[in-house]
Amino acid sequence: MLRFAYLSALWRLEQSAPPLLHRCSTVAIQLSSPVVAVPRPHITTILAMSADGKITDARHGAARFPSAADGRHLEQCLSTADATLFGANTLRAYGTTALITNPALLEQRRQQNRSPQPTHIVCSRSGQLEPTSRFFSQPVPRWLLTTPAGAAPWAASRSFERVWTAPARDGNFDWAAIVTELKTLGFQHLVVMGGGQLVAALVAADLIDELWLTVCPLIIGGHRTPTPCDGEGFALAQAPALTLISCQTIDNEVFLKYGRQRVSA
Ligand SMILES: NC(=O)c1ccc[n+]([C@@H]2O[C@H](COP(=O)([O-])OP(=O)(O)OC[C@H]3O[C@@H](n4cnc5c(N)ncnc54)[C@H](OP(=O)(O)O)[C@@H]3O)[C@@H](O)[C@H]2O)c1
Repeated sequence: MLRFAYLSALWRLEQSAPPLLHRCSTVAIQLSSPVVAVPRPHITTILAMSADGKITDARHGAARFPSAADGRHLEQCLSTADATLFGANTLRAYGTTALITNPALLEQRRQQNRSPQPTHIVCSRSGQLEPTSRFFSQPVPRWLLTTPAGAAPWAASRSFERVWTAPARDGNFDWAAIVTELKTLGFQHLVVMGGGQLVAALVAADLIDELWLTVCPLIIGGHRTPTPCDGEGFALAQAPALTLISCQTIDNEVFLKYGRQRVSA
């Protein structure tokens, strides 16, 4: 039984540290017991937000405010992933997904016997996605995670390699079952690219192991503007605790890496 907090395998945290970032501070949690192997993928979330904590603008458009350095940071993180998961609104906002294009990262994946791009899994209850969006011609393996109703329009289509009807509980996606199934399918590391609704569901299920947040130098505002974690929110006493793993400043942006701090009774 664990008596103190633990982080998921620390070597994995190291593995995903981008080389462009030099750590300026590191906090490691003392372990009183060995790290427990979890029967699910290691899950990293990566987001950029404004100084006031918004991940897009008040119109919910594509979040094009982070710098090129943040783009490289995202690409580095993606290069460690077997699959990446994102919400339907994120796809609706961009019409595309993020690709690994850096030759060194592609070569690294080749040497690791990984596909050039991770599997891109769109999460959509409704299945209502624009079939002509550029996403469907990007060179990535595409899956749709959806409901039976959401799957119906895609049944005769070859747009997705897999249209996956999500295990559900009480009418909602059963995230614990979903990620466990991903592990059995061989996905060891999952990178979640947002947005705030999807991240909220995963946080509520306590499935996020580490969180990369880039703080960008602007104020967006708006009481309905998405944040890194939306949903119903938590009372302070139940708010999931994090530990700061590293932080780095590049020009006007701050790159923060947090680990989920879990305490078992
Ligand atoms: N700054 C950044 O790093 C960053 C990163 C990503 C996105 N963004 C921005 O964030 C905005 C989108 O964020 P968002 O919070 O509005 O939406 P989101 O999480 O991207 O997508 C929400 C949609 O995804 C599906 N979904 C999410 N969670 C679900 C769950 N638990 N069960 C079933 N379906 C689920 C639903 O699709 P259906 O409606 O189809 O049922 C839902 O309406 C965009 O404007 C984008 O530009 C910013």
